[in-house]
Amino acid sequence: EGLFTHDPGFMATSSTESAITFIDGGKGVLLHRGYPIGQLAENSNFVELSYALLFGELPNDEEFNKFESTIRNHTMVHEQLANFFKGFRRDAHPMSILCGVVGGLAAFYHDHLDITKEEDRTISAIRLIAKMPTLASMCYKYNIGQPFNYPRNDLSYAENFLYMMFSNPCEEFKVNPVFAKAMDRIFMLHADHEQNASTSTVRLAGSTGANPFACISAGIAALWGPAHGGANEAVLSMLDEIGDESEENIQRFVDRAKDKSDPFKLMGFGHRVYRNFDPRAKVMKETCDEVLAELGMADDPQLKIAKRLEQIALEDEYFIERKLYPNVDFYSGIILKAIGIPTNMFTVVFAVSRTIGWISHWNEMISSNYKISRPRQLYTGHTERDYPTK
Ligand code: CMC
Repeated sequence: EGLFTHDPGFMATSSTESAITFIDGGKGVLLHRGYPIGQLAENSNFVELSYALLFGELPNDEEFNKFESTIRNHTMVHEQLANFFKGFRRDAHPMSILCGVVGGLAAFYHDHLDITKEEDRTISAIRLIAKMPTLASMCYKYNIGQPFNYPRNDLSYAENFLYMMFSNPCEEFKVNPVFAKAMDRIFMLHADHEQNASTSTVRLAGSTGANPFACISAGIAALWGPAHGGANEAVLSMLDEIGDESEENIQRFVDRAKDKSDPFKLMGFGHRVYRNFDPRAKVMKETCDEVLAELGMADDPQLKIAKRLEQIALEDEYFIERKLYPNVDFYSGIILKAIGIPTNMFTVVFAVSRTIGWISHWNEMISSNYKISRPRQLYTGHTERDYPTK
């Protein structure tokens, strides 16, 4: 019945047309709305990039100011959401809390949920972009038992996130500008990556007509896995496990990654689409060097291990043959750690950044002529048989 292809893992299936992001995995090119990621990271900022991803073009000054101030006006979350957090165990992983509270937003912000109306879609998108840093910081504060911070709308997007994460009522707090710049860059480098697993999940959920908050929460769940957004957390655990920077020790872990009977993989290495350097990894490595140098931490032992590991792997036949290069997450964790963000918050930071990509793809799909996503299968079970009667 009908014609269909069997393509596990969607290795060769295009699920949609899209005008948002272009990747040439062979050449290591990543463009958002046509602009190369390196140029954006150098010259743009996360809010401007968000505007371009959502609306298609970079904003002029007036459009930028209006967009930014609208985001600032939506940074607070409903006071009752604080009660929602209190239902979780203190030691819950912040990603599990985030999945729950973002899904729960639909219960608070249902006044503009008519997805057929562009205005409603834009309001939901802005609410999500604006509230994600607030919710992310609440996950952290709940985890460490400190009071939640209200957002401060005199601060930029990245500054505000760092303020909500690290300030407390007992001390004066000043955002370190080096950290704020690095944070903004990390947000930009993770903002979108076309039809990756979490974005495809958001589109799939959205194709049923589900509300945007529910769709983004589905995306957060898909992001959590170590093969996807969980990789940044896994990289630091791996660098911890490697422990010392001696050549023989690092080589031992590279050998383990090559051994098919060992489940160990080099986390932060390899990518479904890039068969060349991940262009985001290049910028991330430079940012890492800049931040650690400015903090006087250029000799950080984990950075040394990471650099040596990268060098050894890139010279190894196994990695060369399979075209395995460091990806965006190889160096991001080292920067996040230097900023003071704990490892279990790394994937939450990824989710904050990727929300704009998810919602832009969701919006693109809902504005087009879309169909419900419904893959088929190759059935491998029993043929029809009779129910045993006694
Ligand atoms: N270490 C050792 N071997 C690897 C690695 C690795 N990190 N990645 C791939 N390989 C091998 C794999 O075993 C396979 O070998 P063989 O051909 O002998 O069977 C070959 O390389 C091709 O890999 P694959 O698993 O078929 O490729 P995939 O496209 O299905 O998976 C991936 C891509 C990203 C899931 C995988 O490379 C991986 O698990 N990497 C580590 C996790 C990671 O860093 N993920 C973050 C991705 S970037 C950020 C994001 O998207 O969220």
